[in-house]
Amino acid sequence: MEKKILVTRSSLPPIEEYIDEIKDIWDSHWLTNMGEKHKALQNGLKEYLGVENIDLLTNGHMALELSLQALNLQGEVITTPFTFASTTHAIVRNRLTPVFCDIRPDDFTMDADKIESLITDRTCAIMPVHVYGNVCDVEKIQKIADKYGLKVIYDAAHTFGVKYKGQGTGTFGDVSCFSFHATKVFHTIEGGAACFKDEELGRTLYRLKNFGIKNEEVVDGVGANAKMNEFQAAMGLCNLRHIDAEIQKRKAVVERYRERLNGVEGIQLNPVQEHVMSNYAYFPVIFHEKQFGFTRNEVHDRLAQENIFSRKYFYPLTNTYDCFHGAYDVSETPVALEISRRVLTLPLYADLPLEEVDHICDIILGMRN
Ligand SMILES: Cc1ncc(COP(=O)(O)O)c(C=O)c1O
Repeated sequence: MEKKILVTRSSLPPIEEYIDEIKDIWDSHWLTNMGEKHKALQNGLKEYLGVENIDLLTNGHMALELSLQALNLQGEVITTPFTFASTTHAIVRNRLTPVFCDIRPDDFTMDADKIESLITDRTCAIMPVHVYGNVCDVEKIQKIADKYGLKVIYDAAHTFGVKYKGQGTGTFGDVSCFSFHATKVFHTIEGGAACFKDEELGRTLYRLKNFGIKNEEVVDGVGANAKMNEFQAAMGLCNLRHIDAEIQKRKAVVERYRERLNGVEGIQLNPVQEHVMSNYAYFPVIFHEKQFGFTRNEVHDRLAQENIFSRKYFYPLTNTYDCFHGAYDVSETPVALEISRRVLTLPLYADLPLEEVDHICDIILGMRN
């Protein structure tokens, strides 16, 4: 089979380490429902992420969806269309109305200067995304939320281990939700977590991930089943031991891309944000076709001819999805629309050899000859 380079590749611990980690599960016969592995991972992540409280869930999407439910919101939620389906779906599945705010052209996060004009008497929350691991303008967003009495729920799916001014991204807003999907910097195969300060909110969330069961005789919420099982948690415990080395390896890949592509006419790279300790989660590139000479789609197809699979991430915008039947006006988020048409995320994972990075860059740069 010809070698393929995919946009990402899941990291795995040495198999013996995982086998060792799951041995006690055979002793206890406790497979799910908040067992010892779940508890140990919860404690490990609390420390690693520097958060007050954390609850583990079966995936990042349920962290978002149940956090919104736990906050008992009604009305409109200001959010971004430049994201994965999950963010918008979590809002709509809670019978809330998404109101789309445009993004900044440099770091692709929600443009905080455009939030206030979208606030109405029905607005209940803001749900921004730290897209590609780029940290939102957390200070300005919190100021607006405080002024209007709004909740802030961060989709922090991309920012595992990212710090802003020394503080983990899980500490911002009322709730911050991480994804531990197999393709993420840190993973539990499938998995996710919600981080929060309010312990009462935590108790509600804990019940909602277990059918709304309060105790053996009382069910006081219409919950879901979103519990992280012991095998997921065991994978997390193993991966957590290697996370710093993983991030360092990703850093080397990103630095090589930057060396090769920085300053090339028509190529815009992800910014290095001030005060941010990055996790090197993604390598998005914006192709300005007038200057570069080729469109994003042409670069995508040229790489695919060489068995290199980049991704149009995020395209299309969530406010254009078929499932919403034209309910939203995409012309209200022109920057997001333009970026979604021009962006391509290049392959990036800890074990991507630097020679492959060079090969990818050679193909892209070679298109101009
Ligand atoms: C921005 C964003 N939000 C939410 C999710 C949902 O996370 P999960 O796949 O763990 O449900 C993902 C990733 O998959 C994501 O990229």
